Amino acid sequence: MRPLTPTRFVEFDPKTLSDIEGRVVVQITPEGTLGQAARTANRLTKGALARLVEAKSFEKAKSGDVISLAWPAGMKAEALDILVTPRKISPIEARKAGAKLAARSGGKPVTVMAGSMPRAADLALGMALRDYRFDDHKTGDKDPSEAEVVIAHKSPADIEASYGPLAAVAEGVHMTRDLVNEPANVLTTTEFANRLAEMESLGLKVEVLEEDQLEELGMRTLLSVGQGSDSPSKVVVMQWNGGEDDAAPLALVGKGVVFDTGGISLKPAAGMEDMTMDMGGAGVVAGTMRALALRKAKANVVGLVGLVENMPSGNATRPGDVIKSMKGDTVEVINTDAEGRLVLCDVMWYAQERFKPVGMIDLATLTGAIIIGLGHENAGVFSNDDALCNAFLKAADAEGEGAWRLPLGKAYDDLLKSRIADMKNIGGRAAGSITAAQFLQRFVQDDTPWIHLDIAGVASVKTDTDYAPKGATGWGVMALSRLVQNMFEAD
Ligand code: BES
Ligand code: MN
Ligand code: ZN
Repeated sequence: MRPLTPTRFVEFDPKTLSDIEGRVVVQITPEGTLGQAARTANRLTKGALARLVEAKSFEKAKSGDVISLAWPAGMKAEALDILVTPRKISPIEARKAGAKLAARSGGKPVTVMAGSMPRAADLALGMALRDYRFDDHKTGDKDPSEAEVVIAHKSPADIEASYGPLAAVAEGVHMTRDLVNEPANVLTTTEFANRLAEMESLGLKVEVLEEDQLEELGMRTLLSVGQGSDSPSKVVVMQWNGGEDDAAPLALVGKGVVFDTGGISLKPAAGMEDMTMDMGGAGVVAGTMRALALRKAKANVVGLVGLVENMPSGNATRPGDVIKSMKGDTVEVINTDAEGRLVLCDVMWYAQERFKPVGMIDLATLTGAIIIGLGHENAGVFSNDDALCNAFLKAADAEGEGAWRLPLGKAYDDLLKSRIADMKNIGGRAAGSITAAQFLQRFVQDDTPWIHLDIAGVASVKTDTDYAPKGATGWGVMALSRLVQNMFEAD
């Protein structure tokens, strides 16, 4: 894992401006009022900023814009980035501004002359989130990272203190992205479990359940997905106990299909390579546990991931096979490509039986249908509990992570009826994301508040987003960390 951009917080002093190397950021308002450092820059550049404000094009400048001057006269900097923002901005605006600055800096050192900007820690978070690269598998002309961020502020110690927990979350986001971007020949089930076990050094308790133990527990539906692969199926349990000793935990459950060929119901060749991201749910659970451990969250949270590979082979599950789940219900496997629910149902059942959680949230790149419905802007949210669901939606909104609730209901559940078993694993073409959620709900105990997040559309995308270059986004780590904070850590 590439470390986060090193970020230092120093005392703000506009007199240093002329000598700063690399890129330098100063702030002006959309109305054209220069911040303190911007006034100094204006003087050094013999009025360049005043001319900018007078220019016709500045009339269109809006909050969040960055205007760059290359090799500004009178300064040692190679660029002066003029950030347009009002003096008071929301945390999300500050993050987006930071992300934009980082996207522009291309891994070069940046000094932000933040003055007394109240949201400077969020700005630094935006920079850390956006300064992400996955170039482990590129040889040759790799950019050596010289990225370093200096935040010059009037209260550097306060801003540094606020940045601590935000950096923890950013590191969790980066871990999720690394896992999701990693190809399946590298991130095998064994490699995935090893990377999770490494998090013991952060104070997490990590257990890896192997196939014989899963067999013993009766996790037949999970094992039926992995049985066509040479990579062994595993369930990894990560416990963070930062809360009261006897308090029941929140359970996070992730789908970790390290590669989804579809199995015997083989997927078409075009685009199949994208199925390296089918462990995205497990990736978010892992990144969230990392964030909670790094920021020493005062909460009990257990993360469980089912790690399998869905391959066709002489030993693979066939369409028409009937499998018994850990719960005891039987499933007729109509389509071996609807495998995520078969993995999750056993892990969810195990999570409830073992931990009696106060709530359970599962995350999965579960259906292509959710992409048809919501595109890449929002994850699908399904829940049996309005209070937990609204708390999650609020946390996601505060973090700028799109999430949209969809309905559940008996009529959808009825579509899963099977002629020969307790249920089928697919419900047909109609409402594919909802019938997938209904399948999962059959494995949720009556008194367990539960949310299912279908992240197939948001886990990895083909364009740059506000906070990430194209590829894995880390969607959900920030929302879940905040949900934990709001549920368990609020004074
Ligand atoms: N992993 C896929 C869903 C998926 C599709 C994730 C596209 C990310 C991008 C899942 O296992 C799957 O194959 N679902 C099937 C279900 C169908 C067989 C009922 C689908 O969506 O087509
Ligand atoms: Mn599938
Ligand atoms: Zn899948």
